[in-house]
Amino acid sequence: MANPARDTSKKSVPPARSGGIATERSPEFSLPLRFFGLGIAAYFVAMLGIAFVGPALTGSPWNPRILGLTHVMTLGAIVGMIMGASYQMVPVVLLAPIWNQRLGKLSFWVFLPGVVAMVVGFWGSMPAWLGIGATLAGTAIAAFLVNILVSLIRGARWNMVGAFLVTALLCLGAAVTLGMIRAFGYLDPAAAWRIPNALTVHAHLAAFGCASLLIFGVSYRLIPMFAVTSEIDRRGWIVLALAGAGILGITGGSLLEAAVCMRAGATLAAASACLWAWDAAAMFRGRIRKKLDPGLTYVATAIGWLILAAGMGLALAWGWIPPGITPDRWAIAYALVGFIGFIGFSIIGQFHKIMPFLAWYHRYSSLVGKTKVPLIKDIYDEKLAWYGYWAAQAGLAIGVGSVLAGAGLLVRVAGVLLALGALAAATMTYQTLKR
Ligand code: HEM
Repeated sequence: MANPARDTSKKSVPPARSGGIATERSPEFSLPLRFFGLGIAAYFVAMLGIAFVGPALTGSPWNPRILGLTHVMTLGAIVGMIMGASYQMVPVVLLAPIWNQRLGKLSFWVFLPGVVAMVVGFWGSMPAWLGIGATLAGTAIAAFLVNILVSLIRGARWNMVGAFLVTALLCLGAAVTLGMIRAFGYLDPAAAWRIPNALTVHAHLAAFGCASLLIFGVSYRLIPMFAVTSEIDRRGWIVLALAGAGILGITGGSLLEAAVCMRAGATLAAASACLWAWDAAAMFRGRIRKKLDPGLTYVATAIGWLILAAGMGLALAWGWIPPGITPDRWAIAYALVGFIGFIGFSIIGQFHKIMPFLAWYHRYSSLVGKTKVPLIKDIYDEKLAWYGYWAAQAGLAIGVGSVLAGAGLLVRVAGVLLALGALAAATMTYQTLKR
């Protein structure tokens, strides 16, 4: 990897042609960048939305506004970032160039209106908008899945991360298919296909099967790369096997209404999360670069949120919810911990490492040795990133506590803090592109 941490202006070295997350196989920067832009913008809107809907988060998850807000976060922010990161990382980690970049770019313009229409459809309880949005977003995700799967078939060098990726993408396909069946069901509720516990299955396939497994897999490569430590992935296959069995248990148990099977699945999924967390913590402990920057601190903290999510999920599955807290509130607090604390903060943390590097690489790598180039850490305001980190952590802690306590006004405070954290991440993105 080119080492932009040193000013090489005085030395005659060839231009950097390869970085840990960018190589000559990488796609045009504009392909991942458009999805990253959407992801970060949607993350900000979703956090601001928490401040807006506030007290509604202490009620039922079936509230149309919560459904809309959930998809700003899950589809716009999480899936947007996943698509951008996959286009960037597949050529690097699996050495497979992206099959069709034009398809990737075009699909963005189908995905964007699809997400907007879906959110409007949920928010305003307008089934036609929901149906159109689901069709567009589903089509764009299908194009993404085909693009990545063909890329892998044509030239991947297989490894464990590839197995995580394929499992995650299959789960995404299944989650989206189920989501679309449910979305079309709103058009004609009388004719809708009744699928037991569809919401549980859809949300867990997408959140655990897709997003979490993708984070688990790529972290086995990215944490060592960014924290400068050795790869500890011997247990990676066990993590994947436990997670796969867990997803099958949750999905099968929910669809067949077999509580024992669902609980066994939840237990296996929690075990896989804890085992991965153990590996991730070991990689952090063994790092050479002791001082953590905001990006790695986000990633490290997300491991803690994951353990909390695993515990809350187990409690939900086994009916161990503390007295005085309604199951709905527990479920919403659990979703906040999982979607923001683990998935969101992991993505934002890795993004703090990936985005400045890519912006630096595309702007300056060809100038290395010819002129003075800035250091990566100097192309964005690290202090602001720290403020964003602390605002986000405080916001989530307050948010989870106030949802559980039913304190709607405090949820608004949490939303404001989370939005400030997201704004700092968006500012970092802007600064790296502006330099
Ligand atoms: C085109 C893609 C998608 C469609 C069409 C879709 C559709 C839906 C529908 C119709 C519901 C309402 C529940 C129901 O009627 O059963 C729902 C709920 C939900 N979806 Fe999606 N979804 C999509 C993608 C995703 C993704 C990628 C995620 C997560 C990463 C996700 C997470 C959730 C969650 C957590 C809920 C529950 C929200 C709540 O309880 O308020 N969805 N989805």
